[in-house]
Amino acid sequence: MFSIALSDSAKLCPLEPWQAEEFLTHMDRARSNLDPWIPWASRSTDLASARAALQSYADRQAADAGRLFGIWRDGVLVGGVMFVSFNRNTGVCEIGVWLEKAAEGNGLISAAVSHLIDYAFDERGMSRIEWHTSPANERSNGVARRMGMRLEGTLREAFLHNGVRHDTEVWALLPSDRNR
Ligand SMILES: CC(C)(COP(=O)(O)OP(=O)(O)OC[C@H]1O[C@@H](n2cnc3c(N)ncnc32)[C@H](O)[C@@H]1OP(=O)(O)O)[C@@H](O)C(=O)NCCC(=O)NCCS
Repeated sequence: MFSIALSDSAKLCPLEPWQAEEFLTHMDRARSNLDPWIPWASRSTDLASARAALQSYADRQAADAGRLFGIWRDGVLVGGVMFVSFNRNTGVCEIGVWLEKAAEGNGLISAAVSHLIDYAFDERGMSRIEWHTSPANERSNGVARRMGMRLEGTLREAFLHNGVRHDTEVWALLPSDRNR
């Protein structure tokens, strides 16, 4: 498979519709870690919905409007990173991430996000990378901080999730922030 090494045991690879079964098995392991924060595992509850989730990203990639990558550790899919949106016209994109619990705390996401940042700025000439998260999501905030992003503001009660309206913090990285 086409891959980028993230560590001795982990690699970053495209995650595509043909891998729906493996993705669903991983989502079942990751569900309890993701459901409090993001509606990602909850969109993939059976093979058809898992394939549809991957297909929606394949469609975004074909339109150059998003991308999805999985992280495999010791051959097991444990998480991933994505361009939730990628707008060449405005030069603005947004990165999203997830991991199953057992893979947290190893720097895998930070390593993967660094590659997406390099790709967006250096290869694609994007002007701004956004990161949207809940103020209560300390691990997600930790990644944004580690990437050198700045917290720009909080959209109050902008995100309806699990029947509750949550605040959304908007963090962002500009090419000039990398030189700070
Ligand atoms: C957000 C999420 C992906 C962060 O996972 P994470 O493992 O904390 O992030 P990383 O993979 O970058 O790892 C960083 C941790 O590994 C540690 N680490 C170990 N080796 C490291 C290395 N070489 N480089 C960087 N960090 C390393 C860091 O100290 C940090 O641990 P700490 O926070 O306990 O100090 C994960 O918590 C998750 O999936 N949450 C649920 C879904 C979610 O919230 N998604 C984001 C929505 S915006």
